[in-house]
Amino acid sequence: METILVTGASGKLGKAVVRALVDKDFNVRAATRKTTKIRWTDRVRPVLFDYEDHTLFKAALDDISSVFLVAPPLDSRAPDKLIPFIDKAGEAGVRHIVFNSVMRADLDEKNPLRIIERYLMKSELEHTILRPNFFMENFTSGWIGPMIAAGTIRVPAGEAKTSFISVEDIARVAAACFQERRYGEDCSLTGNEAISYGQAARIIADACGRIVNYIPISEEEMVQLDRHHGMPESSIRYRVRLFQEVRRGHMAEITGVVKEVTGKPPMSFKDFAWKNSEVCEVRKAA
Ligand SMILES: NC(=O)c1ccc[n+]([C@@H]2O[C@H](COP(=O)([O-])OP(=O)(O)OC[C@H]3O[C@@H](n4cnc5c(N)ncnc54)[C@H](OP(=O)(O)O)[C@@H]3O)[C@@H](O)[C@H]2O)c1
Repeated sequence: METILVTGASGKLGKAVVRALVDKDFNVRAATRKTTKIRWTDRVRPVLFDYEDHTLFKAALDDISSVFLVAPPLDSRAPDKLIPFIDKAGEAGVRHIVFNSVMRADLDEKNPLRIIERYLMKSELEHTILRPNFFMENFTSGWIGPMIAAGTIRVPAGEAKTSFISVEDIARVAAACFQERRYGEDCSLTGNEAISYGQAARIIADACGRIVNYIPISEEEMVQLDRHHGMPESSIRYRVRLFQEVRRGHMAEITGVVKEVTGKPPMSFKDFAWKNSEVCEVRKAA
């Protein structure tokens, strides 16, 4: 069976993609800057990988014909990091790249992930572009998790709605794209409903059996919070732009792509919250 190189394999999405590929009987080479982050199994082997260390590209790409490509999150320098790797992948004989972009990237030609999309489109490589909405997992293992532990979600989303999607659903789509060789396709991936952060807080509160509030904050307040947490200025600006899209209502669209591609509807936020209520409890105890 083919071995697929998964970049970002230790991340929220990458981990789910590794599982979905193994479920479809692919072997996985799991790329990470720290190999101890990856659980070694018969089908999953870690490989040391860093976009910023080109000497690692050759071993990662050895005997690989398909790559799941993930950019470091909120990274305005993502094109400088990924484009040399895409070039090297082409030279090494890779045929198909499934690139994880972000919903609405195509609205802004300056979006770093859009620049990478464009580069892939112009390349000789077969490619598939996935544009997922905000991940549900931001509320558990991601940056909103600690806010839930503290009892209040603070984001500058106002009352705007978002069609959150689980990484499990994105991963199932990605695995189908490799299996069915869905070359040349680009698709926006969303959950099956759009909800506000206030609604999300209430659903999580219900599932976890504890109070979780939502306070809509201003952009400036988010900037101050992110600075307090030591986030780089370029990432702060990136996140500000993402939430501008949210407030404009651009992230509320619902597409039927997950069901079309996988045959199964995407997970609802309620099911996600109940499935992960233990995580909320563990965070509460921590
Ligand atoms: N979170 C969302 O709501 C959302 C929505 C739409 C799109 N996206 C996009 O989806 C992608 C994955 O997001 P995520 O939330 O799964 O990220 P994550 O959990 O924060 O994981 C980030 C991954 O990037 C890898 N990475 C970071 N710097 C790297 C470097 N220099 N070289 C190689 N790998 C590097 C990390 O690997 P190691 O540390 O193991 O090396 C890690 O596996 C990102 O591009 C993000 O912009 C996210």
